[in-house]
Amino acid sequence: MIRSVILGSGAAKPRTVVTNADLAAKVGTSDEWIQQRTGIQQRYIAEPDETTASLGEAAARAAMDDAGVTVDDIDLIILATSTPNNTFPATAVNIQNRLGMKHGAAFDLQAVCSGFVYAVTTADTFIKSGQAKRVLVIGAETFSRILDWEDRTTCVLFGDGAGAVVLEAQEGVGLSNDRGVLTSHLRSDGSHREKLYVDGGPSTTQTVGHLRMQGREVFKHAVAMITDVIEAAFEATGLTAEDIDWFIPHQANRRIIDASAKKLKIASDKVVLTVNQHGNTSAASIPLAINTAVKDGRLKEGDLVLLEAMGGGFTWGAVLVRW
Ligand code: ACO
Repeated sequence: MIRSVILGSGAAKPRTVVTNADLAAKVGTSDEWIQQRTGIQQRYIAEPDETTASLGEAAARAAMDDAGVTVDDIDLIILATSTPNNTFPATAVNIQNRLGMKHGAAFDLQAVCSGFVYAVTTADTFIKSGQAKRVLVIGAETFSRILDWEDRTTCVLFGDGAGAVVLEAQEGVGLSNDRGVLTSHLRSDGSHREKLYVDGGPSTTQTVGHLRMQGREVFKHAVAMITDVIEAAFEATGLTAEDIDWFIPHQANRRIIDASAKKLKIASDKVVLTVNQHGNTSAASIPLAINTAVKDGRLKEGDLVLLEAMGGGFTWGAVLVRW
C-alpha cells in the first residue's frame, strides 16, 4: 500500500524574542504567573516585514533542503493557517509564487491550532488517492496580529512562527512498522465556538478582529478531547502508549500537555516540549516542535511519533506516523 513518508522538516522564527519580563513591562502580568500557568518563558513576535507568507516560505525552503528535494519535485502545497496575509488569495498560493512554483496546486486550510494535524491528514489522503506524489505541508502563523494587546488573559499565551514538512508517496506493506503516516483521526464540534474565536471577519464586521478565549472552558475540554482521539488512533493500529518514541503535541500550554501525557500513560521523557520557547504558535507549533526534535538529534528514522492537537472550533485530531 502507499504510505506518506516524511522526508524532511524545516522551521522559521521571527527575529524578535519577547520574554515574559518584556510583556510584564507592558501589561499587568508577571513571569511567575505566566510560567506557573502555561510553562511559557518567551515567544517570537513578527516584525512588520515578517508575515505568515514570508515565515512560511522560509520554513518551506528549509524543509525542502532537509528532504533533498526542490520545488520541481513538489506537486501540492497545503498551508495550515488562521492568520493569512490576505482574506484572499490563499497565502499558500503566495508562498507557491515566492518559491517560483508554477505547476501543481496550493491551498490554505483553516482548523486553527489543529491545522497542522488536519493538513497532514489531507496530504496523506491526496497521496493515498494517487493525486499527489510529494506534498509540502506548512503551518505558519502571525497570531500577534490578531491579539488584543490590552487583554492580559490572552496576549501572553501566543507567538509567531512557521514549520514545514515534505511528505512523499512510498510503498509500504500495510503494517505498523511501515514508515509514514499510519493512521489519522480528525474531529470537530462547532457548538464550542464562543469558547475560542476571533471577533471579526469579512462577512460579519469587515474587520480582522481579535482573539477571544474563555481559558478555563478550553482547559476543561482539552484533555478529554485529546485523549479520546489518541485512543482512537491506538485502537485503529493496535499500537499503545508504550510503543510511542515521541509524543509531539500542539504546544498550547504545559499543563494541558502534562495532563494529557499522564492520562495516556506516556512517559514524560518521550514528550517534546517547546511551548517554553515558542508560546502557542497555533498551526505552526507541531512542525516547529518536530524541527526542534530533529535538529537536536532526538527524532530519528524509524521512530514512532504521535502528533496531536486541539483548538478553536473546537477542532481536534491525532496522527500516528513512523519517521
Ligand atoms: N497575568 C496575571 N494575572 C492574570 C493574567 C495574566 N496574564 N491573566 C489572567 N490573570 C488573572 C485573572 O484576572 C484572575 O484574577 P482574579 O482571580 O483576581 O480574578 C486570575 O489571574 C485567574 O484567572 P483565570 O482566567 O481563572 O486563570 P487560570 O488559572 O484559568 O489560567 C489560562 C488562565 C492560563 C488561560 C488557563 O485557563 C489555561 O491554560 N487555559 C487553556 C487555554 C489555552 O491554552 N488556550 C490556548 C488556545 S487553545 C489551544 O491551543 C488548545
